[in-house]
Amino acid sequence: MNAAVSLLEEARRLSDQLIAWRRHLHAHPELSFEEWQTADFIEGVLGRWPAIQTRRVHQTGVVADIVTDPAGPWVALRADIDALPIQEVARPHASQKANHMHACGHDAHTAMLLGAIALLYAHRAAWRGGIRCLFQPGEEKAPGGASLLIQEGVLDEVPIRAIFGQHVTPSLPVGTIGLRAGPFMAASDELHITLVGRGGHAAHPHLVRDPIWVAAQLITSLQGVVSRLNDPRSPTVLSFGVFQGGTAPNVIPETVQLAGTLRTFDESWRQQAIAHITRLTHTLAAAWEVTPHLTWKPGYPVLTNDSQLVSFVEATAQEMGLQVEEMPLWLSSEDFAFYGQRVPACFIRLGTASDNPDTQSPVHTSRFDIDEGALPIGAALLARLAIQYLQNARS
Ligand code: NI
Repeated sequence: MNAAVSLLEEARRLSDQLIAWRRHLHAHPELSFEEWQTADFIEGVLGRWPAIQTRRVHQTGVVADIVTDPAGPWVALRADIDALPIQEVARPHASQKANHMHACGHDAHTAMLLGAIALLYAHRAAWRGGIRCLFQPGEEKAPGGASLLIQEGVLDEVPIRAIFGQHVTPSLPVGTIGLRAGPFMAASDELHITLVGRGGHAAHPHLVRDPIWVAAQLITSLQGVVSRLNDPRSPTVLSFGVFQGGTAPNVIPETVQLAGTLRTFDESWRQQAIAHITRLTHTLAAAWEVTPHLTWKPGYPVLTNDSQLVSFVEATAQEMGLQVEEMPLWLSSEDFAFYGQRVPACFIRLGTASDNPDTQSPVHTSRFDIDEGALPIGAALLARLAIQYLQNARS
């Protein structure tokens, strides 16, 4: 039996513990940047291993360093820990808090990183260097806990050469992981537009400046950024989810509110698209004598996987007997992307689906669940990646 397979077997013997950690976290979810009890729980578990140096970062984040040689090399593992404002369906082990739910599997991410630490600690004679484990708050809420932890120096205090993270994935079965080299998940930016015209009687359009009519043209016109200005080889989405204005059929309102999201896969094009949308909004509004107020709320950047790390993860997963699938581009966004802007990074999709239909329900839904058979796989994979990476880095 190779070392990777035997680590997976060892993780499977920890299954009861992994499930207990995950179910505790699942029953007690906390929203982004309010993960106080979650952080206490993580610190409590880490207290089992006194040689691990732990500290709080940005209030509800926990950094845990396992070190066998402070001179390095160093590698980082990341789990996000926050939950969502969703009411979970009634079932065993459901959330005990109304309208709070681990509907994106971050409970599992946390339990698996704790499991990986247990394995790394048990095997610390097998590797030399440092492993920084990041229990990161606020993945679900802008500006993203990752950006705040980076600002607080988590990537600068020790020379981290690579970072790995994983995410539960209901479109993949347990025993399969999904990878993609290069751009993988989209950058997302929010735009909010208010068009201010001149209201009046709807029977006299020549006496008003109709912001509803201008907003309709603007929404249509801005799709030209996607279809005419963008290189079609780089997928782009511009969707408006808010179009609000008016109170009566025969009254032209003063203002219309629009809000939408822009998704892109190239950082240079992302900035150009923002500039085009801003320019067109001002030009079109000026042409029809309506005043635009446009604000952008920057979201997460493009998540880009380092191609050498992807090959390394693929080889390591196959050594463990896992199936590896190449993933399509993913239009949702992830704040793990911020780490990848600073150090070589690889984000792994971990299969968590089984025959239970709830495990096939998409993330961010009230039915979403995971097959807990995935927990030892994710824990062993993270541990094995760290050990193998450090061994390779020294050889
Ligand atoms: Ni998530």
